[in-house]
Amino acid sequence: EKGGYDTYMLKEIYEQPVALTNTLIGRLHDETGEVNLDINLNPASFKRISIIACGTAYYAGLVGEYLIEQLARVPVEVDVASEYRYRSPLVSEDTLAIVVSQSGETIDTLEALREAKKFGAKTLGVINAKGSSMTRELDDTLYIHAGPEIGVASTKAYTSMVSAFMLLALWLGRARGTLGEDLGRELLHATRELPRLVEEALAPERVEKIKQIAEKYSGARDYLFLGRGVNAPTAFEGALKLKEISYIHAEAYAAGEMKHGPIALIDEHLPVVVVATESFLLEKTISNVQEVRARSGKVIAILSDGDTENARHADDVIYVPHAHEMVSPIVNAVAMQLLAYHTATALGKDVDKPRNLAKSVTVE
Ligand code: M6R
Repeated sequence: EKGGYDTYMLKEIYEQPVALTNTLIGRLHDETGEVNLDINLNPASFKRISIIACGTAYYAGLVGEYLIEQLARVPVEVDVASEYRYRSPLVSEDTLAIVVSQSGETIDTLEALREAKKFGAKTLGVINAKGSSMTRELDDTLYIHAGPEIGVASTKAYTSMVSAFMLLALWLGRARGTLGEDLGRELLHATRELPRLVEEALAPERVEKIKQIAEKYSGARDYLFLGRGVNAPTAFEGALKLKEISYIHAEAYAAGEMKHGPIALIDEHLPVVVVATESFLLEKTISNVQEVRARSGKVIAILSDGDTENARHADDVIYVPHAHEMVSPIVNAVAMQLLAYHTATALGKDVDKPRNLAKSVTVE
């Protein structure tokens, strides 16, 4: 049932090219640059969007916020469901509430959905599990079609959720007239490339390199993860993944925040994973890397293939295939998953059944 893999988590990591194909299939139209999502909501009918989720799904929502605001120019806020449901959220009929969930059963997210509905919001789900509780209460569901996810640590659901947000951002941007045809088509092509890029990110020599790095630092007590812009959530997700399966303490920050506190943590014992793939902010990220290095921190840089220039600022480099910046979180997440996975296995942890965790959190 694990298809020859040692664990469900590893199987699901390797299923990502197929999962992404299934998220995208039939939804992208090259000729027109349009996406077809079979959503009945009117994309021009709301003035604000609230994204609500927990855990990894919340981090997918943070990428969604970035993509939707950039491409559709609608104000978006992202909330942790357990906070949203109790904070008397400002919701009206021109709010679109988007709930994000792999299981469709997480109680906090379900209750937050009910709260949003009570105040008249239109509701849309980005959901994996067919026919789950949330889908029965939502106005509309954009299924991610990632297939069953058994490993407690979410992997393929995350990358499929982020891809679904790319689709939503394209759909909203085109329908609301904020995304021009040329950029629309460019992003559509970049999105279509994702299964192939993720396949490439999983090439044996790349995985082997990540495994070596994971083993090298597996004795660390703490880890820091940094990223900027659309890849700040990639850092958050990387830290969560490492924590939940390896039990190594990890923190994550938007890289520009480092100098406002966390920089005090840096010494020669602290590995710092920095997402530094192609970006209009790359220069700034590299200067953050230099700040880490100047304080003897150990830099593990995630760089785009061929970036030997910036490799000299790092102690260790994980190269990932070139991707358009807007879809790069999906490719970069794979490196994060593999780093966490191989750290946990190097430490002999049971990755499919991490202590104290359940796959679906149906209690408050
Ligand atoms: O089923 P959901 O997507 O609603 O679950 C949300 C979180 O419980 C989940 O993502 C959790 O954080 C995972 N263990 C992360 O790997």
